[in-house]
Amino acid sequence: MLVKSLFTSAAAATALLSSVASAQTISPPSGSNATAGSGPDADGKYWLFGNGITASFIPYGASISNLLIQDQYGIVRDLVGGFDNATYYGIDRQHPHFGGVPGRYANRIKNSSFVIDGTTYNVLPNENPEPGHPDGVDTLHGGPDGWDWRNFTVVSHEANSIVFKIVDPDGDQGFPGEVVSYITYTLGDHTWNLNMLAFATTKITPIMLSSHTYWNLDGFANNETNLVLNHSLHLPYSGQRVATDTILIPTGDIAANQPGSVNDFWSAPKQIGANWTDPDLLGNCGYNCTGYDTCYLVNRDQNGPYDWQAEDGYVARMHSPWSGIQLDVYTDQEAFQVYSCGGQNGSMALKKTQGLFGGENGSAPLFPRTIPQYGCVVLEVEDWIDGINQPEWGRQSKQIFAPGDAPFELQATYKFSINPATTPV
Ligand SMILES: *[C@@H]1O[C@H](CO)[C@@H](O)[C@H](O)[C@H]1NC(C)=O
Ligand SMILES: *[C@@H]1O[C@H](CO)[C@@H](O)[C@H](O)[C@H]1NC(C)=O
Ligand SMILES: *[C@@H]1O[C@H](CO)[C@@H](O)[C@H](O)[C@H]1NC(C)=O
Ligand SMILES: *[C@@H]1O[C@H](CO)[C@@H](O)[C@H](O)[C@H]1NC(C)=O
Ligand SMILES: *[C@@H]1O[C@H](CO)[C@@H](O)[C@H](O)[C@H]1NC(C)=O
Ligand SMILES: *[C@@H]1O[C@H](CO)[C@@H](O)[C@H](O)[C@H]1NC(C)=O
Ligand SMILES: *[C@@H]1O[C@H](CO)[C@@H](O)[C@H](O)[C@H]1NC(C)=O
Ligand SMILES: *[C@@H]1O[C@H](CO)[C@@H](O)[C@H](O)[C@H]1NC(C)=O
Ligand SMILES: *[C@@H]1O[C@H](CO)[C@@H](O)[C@H](O)[C@H]1NC(C)=O
Ligand SMILES: *[C@@H]1O[C@H](CO)[C@@H](O)[C@H](O)[C@H]1NC(C)=O
Repeated sequence: MLVKSLFTSAAAATALLSSVASAQTISPPSGSNATAGSGPDADGKYWLFGNGITASFIPYGASISNLLIQDQYGIVRDLVGGFDNATYYGIDRQHPHFGGVPGRYANRIKNSSFVIDGTTYNVLPNENPEPGHPDGVDTLHGGPDGWDWRNFTVVSHEANSIVFKIVDPDGDQGFPGEVVSYITYTLGDHTWNLNMLAFATTKITPIMLSSHTYWNLDGFANNETNLVLNHSLHLPYSGQRVATDTILIPTGDIAANQPGSVNDFWSAPKQIGANWTDPDLLGNCGYNCTGYDTCYLVNRDQNGPYDWQAEDGYVARMHSPWSGIQLDVYTDQEAFQVYSCGGQNGSMALKKTQGLFGGENGSAPLFPRTIPQYGCVVLEVEDWIDGINQPEWGRQSKQIFAPGDAPFELQATYKFSINPATTPV
């Protein structure tokens, strides 16, 4: 009965079965006892299997921990920063928000405060300490115990999908009301799909989620450079960005990414490092910082309604000419943060699935087995950062939720392909 209703002809069934038979499964690293949909492996990682893509996730921060794709030579690369086991995420104090879901409010909150309906709320600060403010003057990624410092629960784990849940209590980190959130990750045909839902269950509260994944499309194994400056980036809808001060707090102004300027990734694809020596790039990611930690707006509804999943509608395309791996990001979100890892300093170890290894007789690897400054790039689908403190932007309906409202929702698809081009694409 079921088979009959699914397949109208024997030919269709055969075609489907042969496409399954030709599906390409990438194995988890040797030593892992992972099997499809059967809970965590010995390292505490939950593995998912798609066609041509295999990935692991952990309850800590609902984080992605490995993402395995074949490069243009058929060599499997692990494209995301992380640790070798789930236990270590809670132990390493550097905590770069590795692959997790920042929440309940991603990015920075000015002065660690906001006003809703005339009431001022103060949340816990955790960035930019100064005399008189030993814990900081702003709140980054939901506070000192934001969601990506906590273990989510695993609601379900199947061969190609996993659902995480978190219940964030009323008053935690200073935020009003309970929030209940479900994070669903699914692997498809060379795709990683993300769906995030969050419900305000008891009080009106801000909610803004994102995914904070550290990418290196060479699997941190490029033998010519260990930096991402040769990756090319295209943000076709991002002619504008949120202007920020020296500690990356939005000023309220929206800035223009003039053609040819250092923040112009929209008029044509460009290498991330194309403008590295331009004086305009110094201070572009905060005080004395060279590079990007920038919230680009995604402006695409001026031409009418659009389908965020449309084939040619990627909001970002990143490509490495060395591996040939291309990542296209599709999302319903209207901002896109790019962080070029200026804060990395070589103290973060690579995983065993990444990097270059020493040669025979104990010779050193070509590059240290750590993440260098500018050795990664974080791409964050999200809404306009600190929109709760900029009412003139009109982002309230996207960022402030009351009990009974439709939930906060974030959808995204990361699509991988091989593009052998050697120039920016
Ligand atoms: C893998 O091994 C660990 C013990 O080392 C066990 O707890 C876990 O259930 C195993 N996972 C699977 C999927 O077999
Ligand atoms: C977990 O990973 C960390 C970092 O790679 C390592 O130092 C530690 O020994 C590992 N722990 C276990 C139990 O494998
Ligand atoms: C989170 O889970 C890890 C194992 O995955 C465990 O080592 C750690 O103690 C847990 N942390 C908390 C706060 O429960
Ligand atoms: C590197 O960065 C980490 C994390 O911010 C910090 O703990 C460490 O002290 C830094 N090391 C050096 C040598 O600057
Ligand atoms: C910052 O927050 C404090 C504490 O709520 C408040 O007293 C102060 O007025 C705020 N400053 C600004 C500039 O909003
Ligand atoms: C560098 O990596 C490329 C691509 O994997 C490989 O073809 C080449 O042999 C490597 N070169 C060296 C010197 O290892
Ligand atoms: C990186 O790109 C620059 C051009 O911007 C080129 O000169 C350089 O050779 C490339 N380096 C590597 C290692 O591919
Ligand atoms: C940035 O790099 C692009 C591509 O190489 C170049 O066309 C542009 O002039 C550069 N802009 C600045 C401000 O250096
Ligand atoms: C700016 O950063 C550079 C390294 O990137 C450092 O050498 C220099 O001391 C810094 N300058 C100031 C004024 O902080
Ligand atoms: C490693 O050492 C052995 C024994 O001394 C030698 O035969 C071999 O050539 C060495 N390999 C390299 C790459 O130096």
